[in-house]
Amino acid sequence: MMEVISEAAAARAHCAALRREGATLGFVPTMGALHAGHLSLIERALRENDRVAVSIFVNPTQYDDPADLERYPRPFAADLAACEAAGADLVFAPSPGELYPDGYRFRVSEGERSRELEGAHRPGHFDGVLTVVLKLFTIIRPQRAYFGEKDWQQLRLVSDMAAAFLLDTEIVACPTVREADGLAMSSRNALLSPVERALAPTLARVLAGGGSPAAMRSALAAAGFSVDYVEHRDGRVLAAVRLGNVRLIDNVEA
Ligand code: PAF
Repeated sequence: MMEVISEAAAARAHCAALRREGATLGFVPTMGALHAGHLSLIERALRENDRVAVSIFVNPTQYDDPADLERYPRPFAADLAACEAAGADLVFAPSPGELYPDGYRFRVSEGERSRELEGAHRPGHFDGVLTVVLKLFTIIRPQRAYFGEKDWQQLRLVSDMAAAFLLDTEIVACPTVREADGLAMSSRNALLSPVERALAPTLARVLAGGGSPAAMRSALAAAGFSVDYVEHRDGRVLAAVRLGNVRLIDNVEA
């Protein structure tokens, strides 16, 4: 039977008891609005660990735009049902006060790679992500934590943070899960209008088509996207675009 816990102290005690039993613990941090991409992380965690914890927390500190935070979907009951059906053992769903007793006076700040790409367009975003991930790791203390490659920059920064702070959690990178038409799965896809949804897979097609970042930027702009960036990093091409109010990111091997 899956446990649902909202207090940090209770989640910490629950995970400590699992460790004392000798269980290995996999962890999938999420902001809810779960889709097949999240479920693939939970399934992989279940294959590689005895027990799996999922967190559901829409983290306010990683939003620079209050409207964006407000718009984020929160289908909590459906998320719990999905976690239970997937076989998760624990859902940790804290309130902001539970994770930020200091009111965000203390935070993790990375001074280089968090400032470019997503970080340049969403000031403070990665401080919020890294801070909440470190807090969640401190409570859950997982052997392994699972992150999707769709959020490539996040994955790299979390891996770098785990190394920098000598954490004993292994960061496991998991391939992007895509819709049949190629669109990378994202909780934000639910916010697209039918017309925007029809255009959205063009992002993945343009990135997969190759060429210079400048040529891809032009192709995306001509298709009707507002382009935040298209850049090469780590042998990949990373992009962020906007369709109306919805921001989409994706990346593929270059
Ligand atoms: O990728 C996400 O959903 C979030 O950035 C994360 C890692 C759960 C931190 O809030």
